[in-house]
Amino acid sequence: MNTLIGISGSLRHHSYNTALLRAAVELAPADLRIEAVTLTGIPLYDGDVEAEGMPAAVSALKERIAAAQGLLFVTPEYNQSIPGVFKNAIDWLSRPGADIPRVFGDKPVGIIGATPGPAGTRLSQTAWLPVCRALGVHPWLGKQLYVAGAGQVFDAEGKLTDPKIQKLLGEYLQGLSRFVTLVQGSR
Ligand code: FNR
Repeated sequence: MNTLIGISGSLRHHSYNTALLRAAVELAPADLRIEAVTLTGIPLYDGDVEAEGMPAAVSALKERIAAAQGLLFVTPEYNQSIPGVFKNAIDWLSRPGADIPRVFGDKPVGIIGATPGPAGTRLSQTAWLPVCRALGVHPWLGKQLYVAGAGQVFDAEGKLTDPKIQKLLGEYLQGLSRFVTLVQGSR
């Protein structure tokens, strides 16, 4: 059984991306466990704060990632790129740089996202790719999951109700699970 840390890049209570992450937890295949986390409690990156000691929320998330077999980024799109809240958290998690191989090194990563807009977070998902390179992780590029028109895809309680997206998400997670097993076997 492989475990992925699934991170929603939105702090919003009724976030579509957090809702998509919840759906991923439910639709994951039997051989894949997704542990959902949010970024609540991660402060703004400040080198002076880091010099005084890593914030507890950052250290705790780092250790969960280090212990897992991979990651699932569930990313909103802000101004055609990565939301600052999400990038800020990854910046913290990448500190100190000497710890990157232990925490992230060679881990497989899935990238999905949801937006009420028409383009389904294509640009923010692409914007993550250079960050993946910096972290030394392996994004899975075998399938894409771009959830557009999110207002029509989730119900008022944030449950994924669109059967087409349910099917696509299930297929995405099956492929991601195979990729995680493949990468883990070669580490
Ligand atoms: C957005 N939004 C947005 N959507 C999109 O598809 N492309 C974009 O470039 C942007 N840009 C953007 C900038 C800023 C500052 C905000 C606040 C919003 C809309 C965004 O997708 C929408 O607010 C989502 O609902 C955010 O994700 P969560 O919070 O629902 O997970």
